[in-house]
Amino acid sequence: MFSSNLSGGPAWHWQAWRSQNAWAPTVNALETWLFAQTSDAPRSSLLLIGASAGWMMPHAWLCQFKEVHTFDIDPMAARLFKWRHGSKLRAKGVELQCHTQNALVDLPSLLNSHPKASVFFDNVLGQLRFNNSEIHSVEKNIDRIRKTLKGREWGSVHDRMSGPVSGALTLSPESEEQWPQASGHLEIEEAQKWLTSLQAQSPWLDHLTGGVFGKETPIYNLAWAFKPQYWHWLQAGWVKP
Ligand SMILES: C[S@@+](CC[C@H](N)C(=O)[O-])C[C@H]1O[C@@H](n2cnc3c(N)ncnc32)[C@H](O)[C@@H]1O
Repeated sequence: MFSSNLSGGPAWHWQAWRSQNAWAPTVNALETWLFAQTSDAPRSSLLLIGASAGWMMPHAWLCQFKEVHTFDIDPMAARLFKWRHGSKLRAKGVELQCHTQNALVDLPSLLNSHPKASVFFDNVLGQLRFNNSEIHSVEKNIDRIRKTLKGREWGSVHDRMSGPVSGALTLSPESEEQWPQASGHLEIEEAQKWLTSLQAQSPWLDHLTGGVFGKETPIYNLAWAFKPQYWHWLQAGWVKP
């Protein structure tokens, strides 16, 4: 029914479960950023795409919404998401529905069925390049998604690049204060400086997400210690119509 899943499934759940401490600075920074984007929004519904079990998704942010619909192609995701977040959302009166569905292919019909919902792509757009080896097709697909979302409030956090690091930066949850983060669309020289600040070692993989946000959307860059010697550069942005 679904094509093979290179970014989710048992290997992702295992990696996420055992990396919770190492990932904590990124998750905390993301939570602060998410709250800053939606603090003035009325409570509405959220379509969370690429939700998996919500390993990097803060409960408190989800609790702002009346309804949360999660989408993932991974058949384990719905059960695990409910296990991790269900009781906390219920306690705050949030209705949670978890769907096993290809939400990128079905995006137009999902937007039609939820005309007032905000959409958040939760670390999924940077994975499109693993489904298609043609750079042009990946960029076209991202462009199609952007156009489909016109007029809608939406956000995304996704891989911009990833690769080996020297491992010189510390990985404790207390590192949040000095955790590498930067604002804005980084031009080539700034991007080089940013990668140097992460102790990046060449070569890094381009996840082909440079075109997700237009120049008018403020971008938040942050580091994610995915594995001790292999880090990701994440970009987050929130688009208001
Ligand atoms: C890197 S993981 C991120 C998981 C999640 N955001 C978390 O914090 O645990 C990417 C997820 O996107 C899912 N995914 C990939 N393509 C998808 C699609 N077309 N529709 C819905 N989910 C998809 C994968 O199954 C995987 O669970």
